[in-house]
Amino acid sequence: MQLSPLQSRLAASLIATCLLIALYLTLFTPHFALAETLLQEALPPILDDLDHDLELELDLQAAPTQQHDPTYEPEFAAFDRSIIGRAPVGVMSLTNNVEMSLNVEPGSTQVFVFELSATSGEERNDIRELRRGTDTGDLPGDALEELEEERRVERRQSGRTVYISANTCEQPQRKTRSNSDQGPPQLTLYVSTDASNESPGPQADASTQVTFNFTEGAIMYNLTTERPVFIGVHASNASAEFQGGYNFRVAASTDTFFHSYSTEEDADLILVDTDSQGALLMTHNLTDSSDPVLHDRIMATQPYVMFAQNEKEGSINGVRQSYCGLQVYAQIAATKDGKSANMVKTAMTKRGPGKLPKQQFYFTGLNASADYIGILAQNGNLTNVGNGKPGGGGHVFRATAFTTKRDNGNCAIIQNLQFCDEVAYSVPSNPSFGDTEKLAEFYDSYASEVFENFKKVMAQVPCEAPNVQRYSLVRNCSDCNAAYKEWLCSVAIPRCEDFSNSTDTYHPRALSQPFPNGERLDAEILGKFPNLTAYNSSRNPRIDEVIRPGPYKEVLPCDDLCYALVQSCPSSLDFSCPRPGDAGFSSSYATRVPGQLSCNYQGSAHLVSGAGRMGEIGYMSSWVAGLSLGASLVMAGVI
Ligand SMILES: *[C@@H]1O[C@H](CO)[C@@H](O)[C@H](O)[C@H]1NC(C)=O
Ligand SMILES: *[C@@H]1O[C@H](CO)[C@@H](O)[C@H](O)[C@H]1NC(C)=O
Ligand SMILES: *[C@@H]1O[C@H](CO)[C@@H](O)[C@H](O)[C@H]1NC(C)=O
Ligand SMILES: *[C@@H]1O[C@H](CO)[C@@H](O)[C@H](O)[C@H]1NC(C)=O
Ligand SMILES: *[C@@H]1O[C@H](CO)[C@@H](O)[C@H](O)[C@H]1NC(C)=O
Ligand SMILES: *[C@@H]1O[C@H](CO)[C@@H](O)[C@H](O)[C@H]1NC(C)=O
Ligand SMILES: *[C@@H]1O[C@H](CO)[C@@H](O)[C@H](O)[C@H]1NC(C)=O
Ligand SMILES: *[C@@H]1O[C@H](CO)[C@@H](O)[C@H](O)[C@H]1NC(C)=O
Ligand SMILES: *[C@@H]1O[C@H](CO)[C@@H](O)[C@H](O)[C@H]1NC(C)=O
Ligand SMILES: *[C@@H]1O[C@H](CO)[C@@H](O)[C@H](O)[C@H]1NC(C)=O
Repeated sequence: MQLSPLQSRLAASLIATCLLIALYLTLFTPHFALAETLLQEALPPILDDLDHDLELELDLQAAPTQQHDPTYEPEFAAFDRSIIGRAPVGVMSLTNNVEMSLNVEPGSTQVFVFELSATSGEERNDIRELRRGTDTGDLPGDALEELEEERRVERRQSGRTVYISANTCEQPQRKTRSNSDQGPPQLTLYVSTDASNESPGPQADASTQVTFNFTEGAIMYNLTTERPVFIGVHASNASAEFQGGYNFRVAASTDTFFHSYSTEEDADLILVDTDSQGALLMTHNLTDSSDPVLHDRIMATQPYVMFAQNEKEGSINGVRQSYCGLQVYAQIAATKDGKSANMVKTAMTKRGPGKLPKQQFYFTGLNASADYIGILAQNGNLTNVGNGKPGGGGHVFRATAFTTKRDNGNCAIIQNLQFCDEVAYSVPSNPSFGDTEKLAEFYDSYASEVFENFKKVMAQVPCEAPNVQRYSLVRNCSDCNAAYKEWLCSVAIPRCEDFSNSTDTYHPRALSQPFPNGERLDAEILGKFPNLTAYNSSRNPRIDEVIRPGPYKEVLPCDDLCYALVQSCPSSLDFSCPRPGDAGFSSSYATRVPGQLSCNYQGSAHLVSGAGRMGEIGYMSSWVAGLSLGASLVMAGVI
């Protein structure tokens, strides 16, 4: 735990603080509630026990993330209020879109008030914005005035929607470490707009307030009112296994939730692939627009952050939907100055169908065969970050679960290839061959070699000829080149899965060869597979000669890549795709199944919706002999 400068000072001079408060009490004799609040602010939970204090120091070193909001501004607290004299004593007043960070001890309640008049500045902003809208020439001045007046009246009559949100940043911790258990009790939110209840909480009349438990450290609640909104945040007594108090942030807004989390079913983060010590994840398309200027603008940003956690580690239990809670408790935080941030590299990319901007996260240093969750989050909402900005408190998306591969060490993620620039998945590998850059270079140079040969053949096709002489009116040579490249990169760079993976469309390869650690498959296991080249070697013999990955499963290329090739290229090239049931069908290609990674294509990932079912597989017939590398490549897959 870390103390804000204010709190450190107070901690350092505890006695002085007590004297000060005593003096304050004698001089001003404020209500007891106020004194209590002050004490709570002044004395973090740990100060009543010196041993805890020591522990705190240690924690500090282990987790340099901040715990108490540095932006916490005491001027919003008790002093101001009593001077202004508007809010009841002991009740802190909230400013529109400004979060307040506070501690709350188990068994106690912190009370806030949000008054709509505090938003008048905001209203002026709205109107300014409205005017700005007319600069683009929509409304004449008169109409604008009318609209403004209308809005004002509307607001006065029907009240405004107030969005209340809060996040738990710290929570009591178990005295003895235990990973799988539940977190401490969630905080509870009480909201009252009833004149008779200015101190909502467990003691107040239940009929004058609404009550919600936080969910995984977060709460979002909106209501429409024209009255001051009283908000109580209560911490119930935790069981004796826990120690420490809570720290939370609360905000009210008339615009939108300051803190938010996703409630939709769909995962917001897409798993591209894993290997035994890493994972590659990416966001959805960040825009549907094909405007290159917008693309450039988006590509220059990195709008998201990410948290990851080994499922065995229980530290985030109870705060999985809280941005600041994740920042404090997540094992890996891909945020600025986040915990173990060196385990994550993030970048913008346009890989994948549609070639639209996305952000990707590449994790390394994970444990093999381990279950993780990745949680995508946004610090603010792209444009608005921090206090004073609607939605500036951050957004937490739904978690995505993923499992790293087993530690056979023979599948490794490669990416950033020069020629096959859409490749970003696990390929057959062997730690003794070299690092992933060298591995990427091996596969990429092989594919581009084959492509060079293909270009020589294409040189004889009349591409630039007038329409009548061209091979097709709808497809031209660039289409053919693109289709060939897409097919080639998928076929020449096999997508690797653990040998132990039981998905039945994945094809076992190189079974008769040793794993990188020298072990071989038992004769018993080997006996279950046909003694055929398609099983006892890789699709491309070079992989077995140079990389020597040993047994793995290949996610076969999608059959539609072959159809696209046949359709896009001149018939004189004589490409053809075999039919289902042809010999070797099932060892060459697989069919897309929506929602599954049933086959490989450039830019494929988990949980993508496929393009519907088609049938058949593909190979290229004898003319390809001219492309010697291509031929062996294809033939190996077809046997
Ligand atoms: C919570 O604990 C305090 C002090 O231990 C006690 O006074 C209070 O009654 C407890 N509250 C509840 C609801 O159990
Ligand atoms: C909040 O959680 C407590 C403890 O789990 C439960 O007793 C209570 O009914 C919940 N309250 C609401 C409003 O869901
Ligand atoms: C809360 O917000 C939602 C969505 O913005 C809206 O549908 C709902 O009517 C609001 N509730 C109140 C009480 O304003
Ligand atoms: C991105 O957009 C393209 C084209 O609309 C679509 O095919 C693709 O599935 C989208 N990708 C993601 C990850 O949402
Ligand atoms: C890997 O496993 C060890 C032992 O179980 C654990 O201490 C460590 O936190 C794990 N690391 C990651 C990144 O999951
Ligand atoms: C961020 O929030 C503001 C205020 O609600 C909104 O105007 C803006 O469009 C939001 N930006 C994004 C990228 O969602
Ligand atoms: C080939 O056709 C595509 C449209 O199918 C077109 O965009 C492209 O410019 C054409 N290329 C050449 C070299 O004509
Ligand atoms: C097999 O691989 C697929 C794709 O990577 C993955 O979704 C699935 O969980 C794996 N199954 C097993 C049993 O490892
Ligand atoms: C597979 O067949 C080859 C020759 O056809 C033979 O030499 C080899 O021993 C066989 N392997 C197994 C495991 O049966
Ligand atoms: C693989 O199978 C083929 C075909 O049966 C056989 O000729 C070859 O010897 C086998 N290779 C190994 C290493 O078992």
